[in-house]
Amino acid sequence: MSLHLGEIAPDFTAETTAGTLTFHDWKKDSWAILFSHPADFTPVCTTELGATSALKGEFDARGVKAIAVSVDSVEDHLSWAGDIGEVTGHPLNFPIIADPKKEVSIAYDMIHPGEGDTSTVRSVFIIDPNNKVRLTLTYPKSVGRNFNEILRVVDALQLTDKAPVATPVNWVPGDRVIVPPTVSTADAIAKYGDQVEVVKDYLRYIPQPKV
Ligand code: BEZ
Repeated sequence: MSLHLGEIAPDFTAETTAGTLTFHDWKKDSWAILFSHPADFTPVCTTELGATSALKGEFDARGVKAIAVSVDSVEDHLSWAGDIGEVTGHPLNFPIIADPKKEVSIAYDMIHPGEGDTSTVRSVFIIDPNNKVRLTLTYPKSVGRNFNEILRVVDALQLTDKAPVATPVNWVPGDRVIVPPTVSTADAIAKYGDQVEVVKDYLRYIPQPKV
């Protein structure tokens, strides 16, 4: 059963490279990125976990905790962690969940039998401070993810949670944003004055508001 946006991310208790943790307690009121990888000691996954470690400063700046999961054991995760630091130059700095019984993988629908075997595909969940699922992504095993895109989505979610705006295609922080359809052009002009750029009745831009 797949998870839908807005649903509460399932809680679980699991062994990890940082000891036993209960997900909601560990996360507390932070944002979290929970992501699965197919297997330890595999090339694409090694690059992905190194890239995630490299972004720790960016995650911290946004109040985001990263946590990975695969069906491998804690012993394998800890042994592989040495390779991640050696190969990528970025030692592992977040927990990896050991899910040999597939409890987490099944709760989050991370196993897709059409993708070859009973290990997890490359799923990503962005979970907000209220434990709600705010984004889901599913990549095949053969395609590594872009963690800068995941950060970009966190930026967009944090902005649109604080201001009644939407972000256009390829938005990055600092770009103009969109007045959503729920706000009339008259109301937008009343609020933002001549900063409103009306392209169509339904397409209105304003500079990114300070939040
Ligand atoms: C990898 O991480 O390199 C990988 C894992 C499973 C299937 C294909 C690639």
